[in-house]
Amino acid sequence: MKDINWAIIGTGRIAHTFAEGLKGTQGARLYAVGSRTPQRAKQFADEFGFEKAYGSYEELVKDSNIDVVYIATPMSSHYKDTMLCLENGRNVLCEKSAALNGEELAKMLDKAKEKELFFMEAMWMKCRPVYLKALEWVRAGRIGTPRYLKADFCNLVKYDKSDRLFAPECGGGALLDLTVYPLTFALDFLGQKPEEIVSCTHIGKDGVDLSNSLILKYENAYASIDAGFELPCINRAVISGDKGSIVFADWFFCCCEVTLYDDNTEVIERLEIPNEVNGYEYEIREVHKCLNGGLKESVLVPHSSTTAVMEIMDKCRENWGMKYPGEE
Ligand SMILES: NC(=O)c1ccc[n+]([C@@H]2O[C@H](COP(=O)([O-])OP(=O)(O)OC[C@H]3O[C@@H](n4cnc5c(N)ncnc54)[C@H](OP(=O)(O)O)[C@@H]3O)[C@@H](O)[C@H]2O)c1
Repeated sequence: MKDINWAIIGTGRIAHTFAEGLKGTQGARLYAVGSRTPQRAKQFADEFGFEKAYGSYEELVKDSNIDVVYIATPMSSHYKDTMLCLENGRNVLCEKSAALNGEELAKMLDKAKEKELFFMEAMWMKCRPVYLKALEWVRAGRIGTPRYLKADFCNLVKYDKSDRLFAPECGGGALLDLTVYPLTFALDFLGQKPEEIVSCTHIGKDGVDLSNSLILKYENAYASIDAGFELPCINRAVISGDKGSIVFADWFFCCCEVTLYDDNTEVIERLEIPNEVNGYEYEIREVHKCLNGGLKESVLVPHSSTTAVMEIMDKCRENWGMKYPGEE
């Protein structure tokens, strides 16, 4: 496998965590970082040992030594940043949620196809070993027919007007930031097309959702999802079928432990796989595998999955009457 020259655009919170992941992952070369300000690019490059520091995203994408760009900017910038990369011939790993809405996402995917470039949403949960093991158990019928799923992602986040989480102009709100995880989880385990979606929300004074609750109804199953900035929760996840259940440990989307129970709640199997780096190594390896294999789309995080999740998030916002600037 060839080493991959990584570039990052945006030097915020997750960019730091991801750079740590790159540093510890074999085959990843910390090549370039781009920031809107040259000083921040230089500081970030020095901190992690990137070879190049660019003072604008536009300059960075011109560098043809880059194999893939990791987009770590707010949701409202994903569309323009992805288009900038693709127009300049760069493969993309774009942070979740991949876009503000389905219309933007469809244009991004069309552009990747037109340019014959790789695009993947950075839904790292879907690359994690315990997640893949649970999918394997369900597909092998170990819990029988899945009937019920519960998954939450709630946090207590102190209000800060300047934080992108509360800013409509940054694509703020719990839906795109948090709900995207349990929703992706539900569609993976119960199917991409629920028959009915019921949702409610609490919209804050800045016009973005602070918390939300979703029920997805399927022919023989339903999923219940809660997410938001207003509740401290332990965020476990459960999938129950007529022959057993699967329980993900606390913070299900990044946990290292998953347990299979029988229909009498006896433990059948428990799997614990500690992170080798910081948990991001699995999605980094998935990108390496795709690029080295000439794939334009990941099997673990396919475009169809990102699209199905986005369609439901669009429906929820339509139901709540919540629009982002420019969506009028
Ligand atoms: N996978 C995960 O575990 C995970 C965790 C947290 C967040 N995320 C996702 O990662 C993305 C970034 O989140 P974050 O928490 O890292 O955000 P953040 O701390 O606010 O950082 C975002 C960075 O984007 C750049 N940027 C470009 N346009 C901007 C604008 N208009 N306003 C503010 N910053 C702008 C800035 O970098 P420069 O100034 O250097 O250009 C900024 O530092 C989001 O899509 C989020 O959903 C993923």
